[in-house]
Amino acid sequence: MTDRRKNPWLPVCDKQALEAGQFVEFALITAEQESGKNADTLPPTGFVFLDGNTPRAYLNRCPHMGVELNWMPGRFMDTDNLFLQCSTHGALFKPGNGECIAGPCQGDALTALDVREIGGSLEVRLPE
Ligand code: FES
Repeated sequence: MTDRRKNPWLPVCDKQALEAGQFVEFALITAEQESGKNADTLPPTGFVFLDGNTPRAYLNRCPHMGVELNWMPGRFMDTDNLFLQCSTHGALFKPGNGECIAGPCQGDALTALDVREIGGSLEVRLPE
């Protein structure tokens, strides 16, 4: 487990292994969970993918109702493969910035996570 007080970055996957169209999901350890509070709740999750050649990561939480976007592992895109899509009510989000461009939370956005590459590994910064 990563001690987020010492290192807020969480390794999530090997950059070379991440292919176009692939989504890697991961669990985030919050400060509360690390300290033992809310130990019985599931940790929030996120996902990382390539937007062109740029790795991007978001919390896997729809701004409409706070549920995870996908109902099948690794499936986040709409049928046209243009936008991230929430499987609950169909909201569409731009892959590049998470902005919702259609659906019940239009104008809102996914929560972006900072991504960095260290030694061939992609890491995301744990949220505060
Ligand atoms: S919960 Fe995502 S669009 Fe309603």
